[in-house]
Amino acid sequence: MKNEPTIQQLFDLSGKVALITGASGHLGSAMARALTEASARVVATSHKPGAEVVIDHMDEASINRGFDEAVKIAGKVDILICNGHEPLGADWRTATGEQFTRQLQNATGYFLLARKMRDHAVERKAPASIILIGSMYGVVGSYPEVYEGISTASPVAYQTLKGGVVQMARHLAVYWAKDGVRVNCLSPGPFPSSSAPAELVERLKARSPMARIGQPHELKGALIFLASDASSYVTGQNLLVDGGWTAW
Ligand SMILES: NC(=O)c1ccc[n+]([C@@H]2O[C@H](COP(=O)([O-])OP(=O)(O)OC[C@H]3O[C@@H](n4cnc5c(N)ncnc54)[C@H](OP(=O)(O)O)[C@@H]3O)[C@@H](O)[C@H]2O)c1
Repeated sequence: MKNEPTIQQLFDLSGKVALITGASGHLGSAMARALTEASARVVATSHKPGAEVVIDHMDEASINRGFDEAVKIAGKVDILICNGHEPLGADWRTATGEQFTRQLQNATGYFLLARKMRDHAVERKAPASIILIGSMYGVVGSYPEVYEGISTASPVAYQTLKGGVVQMARHLAVYWAKDGVRVNCLSPGPFPSSSAPAELVERLKARSPMARIGQPHELKGALIFLASDASSYVTGQNLLVDGGWTAW
């Protein structure tokens, strides 16, 4: 077909700059590699002082400074992945009001960074793709017996946060669609890292239709789909990569 982009062109990120937060983490590092492999220039941020580009989602000044620094270094940003996360160990039994509110502040950070990306794209009159990392726990409740006696890895404030992130993607998507800025959520299912207790991993596997946990590289395809023109008519969606966890 004349003028129809090929599948290689649709997934190609040549000439694009992608900013990803929490890029050194278990899933963030695989996502950063995916972006590089798709030929994007990647600005990998960390909240730790001393990194080349520092973005702490919990600090508005750091978000503004970090984004501006990324633009200075790379000339522009076309793709934003809000992936970093300040964790919380306390569950519904023990979380203080202060801890609960602070956990929700992760969403504040995602919003402020997304708005910087939108304003930058509008200023440049260029399209942008924003990907917020959600979770299966923004969509379904957890099975209490999976965590019982092992860990508080699925705290109530985390579930509230991720449910909010999924909805934030929908809200921003409709407000920013006419600006050429797409906003989607990518929600991983069970992807415990190697430091997770073995018994927890076994219980997660037992609850999964595929009877296994996800490997970080299994997010790469979905990420590049959402980041690239392959998803040019997709916005406001929540793409679950969860081995069927939410399909039961
Ligand atoms: N693993 C899973 O099973 C799973 C399932 C569903 C959803 N998720 C989501 O996937 C994302 C990545 O999770 P992960 O498993 O890769 O966790 P991770 O290994 O702990 O990575 C998260 C990264 O966030 C960064 N970070 C911490 N505090 C931050 C802050 N205040 N501001 C900005 N960045 C901060 C840290 O990197 P620096 O110290 O370098 O900043 C850390 O490496 C999170 O949003 C998580 O909720 C994970």
